[in-house]
Amino acid sequence: MPHSVAVLVGSLRKESFNRKVAKVLIALAPPSLSMKIVEIGDLPLYSEDVEANPPQAWVSFREQINAVSAVLFVTPEYNRSVPGGLKNAIDVGSRPYGKGALVGKTAAVISGSVGAIGGFGANHHLRQSLVFLNMPAMQQPEAYLGGLGDCFNAAGELTNEKTRALLTTYVNAFAAWVEQHARK
Ligand code: FNR
Repeated sequence: MPHSVAVLVGSLRKESFNRKVAKVLIALAPPSLSMKIVEIGDLPLYSEDVEANPPQAWVSFREQINAVSAVLFVTPEYNRSVPGGLKNAIDVGSRPYGKGALVGKTAAVISGSVGAIGGFGANHHLRQSLVFLNMPAMQQPEAYLGGLGDCFNAAGELTNEKTRALLTTYVNAFAAWVEQHARK
């Protein structure tokens, strides 16, 4: 049985470059991983007030995270940090206290931007949350994808072969990381 992986995309934009990267990673994944995008765009903003009677979207998201062995974050950088929608998903997945679906899950972070720095700030702010959630996050290879606006053609296909090679290395390293750390 392959390890199941939830891919959380930090951008809610339909034509998101990071979503395209996520799809390439899913296509490149070795047979030991079964990866799929879990949507985060319909999650109501986190409030402790409604935890006693949580919205259906939270319940469904938590169930989907509970069902997987690992989580792969693919995110842009907003204002040098994690986009609000993704931070909200992490907050939803971290609770109720003591039973957070994300807690302890094996993880990796890849960031991408149209800019040159490749979302470095978002990547590392996100890792700060993963420390608190006790999620073993792959350290190497790091991946900060810069210039994503030039990597895809009009049909949304990856045309930059260096980026494809990097993503291949990345997803194979992630598979080894999951094998080492995840419970099936
Ligand atoms: C951005 N963008 C951006 N880029 C970056 O490299 N560092 C940053 O801090 C920011 N900040 C930022 C804030 C907000 C509110 C927006 C909407 C955008 C640009 C960002 O990299 C670009 O929009 C990407 O295309 C977003 O990723 P997706 O949606 O293509 O996956």
